[in-house]
Amino acid sequence: MAISEATVAQLRELATKYPRSRSAVMPMLHLVQSEEDEVTAEGIAVCAEVLGLTAAEVTAVASFYTMYKRRPVGRHHIGVCTNTLCGLLGGDAVYQALSDRLGVGHNEPTPDGQFWLERIECQAACTHAPVMTVDWEFMDDVTPTSAVDVIDRLAAGQPVESTRGPVIRDFAATERTLALMDDGLADAGNCVDDKMLAGLRLAKERGFAAPATPATKEG
Ligand code: FES
Repeated sequence: MAISEATVAQLRELATKYPRSRSAVMPMLHLVQSEEDEVTAEGIAVCAEVLGLTAAEVTAVASFYTMYKRRPVGRHHIGVCTNTLCGLLGGDAVYQALSDRLGVGHNEPTPDGQFWLERIECQAACTHAPVMTVDWEFMDDVTPTSAVDVIDRLAAGQPVESTRGPVIRDFAATERTLALMDDGLADAGNCVDDKMLAGLRLAKERGFAAPATPATKEG
């Protein structure tokens, strides 16, 4: 799939938003991915041309970060955290249930192009472990049953809400958001709840304070 002229114009605009244009490479790769469902050699070449970099330099970024894919993801990206806390609290069982349901393993798309399954690292969401993500929106406190239910509802075209965010859209839409395109959803959903604030509340009640930071040396 060719990168459209409209997308190239947006890539050029992204490059103007930073003091050094090369700093735009990551949102630009997300924008390319939103259009092509992966980061292709052509997408890399376009980013390189806009930024005045070599294709090798852009490839170095695209191949280092796991959020950039080199083959088509499909309609929905499904991540399951299997790091220590989520794994101990059931993340491995959630992953296995989804793998069985979808018939694919880690970093694999389903043949119908609907889902991509991936074991993911800690999402700093351990308060609600085990967590899964759908197009990088959180599904908190999942079980094997609730996780499979999410997949089944998405496959049936039913609306699915993140437990702390907006209604799930699709992978391409999330990639546009990650490319810094305003999706108008910044205030959608509940981003903070009592459980997340429990530690802060206890610290205030008990008068805990962070230790002072050492003075920085001049010069
Ligand atoms: S270990 Fe899963 S979110 Fe931290």
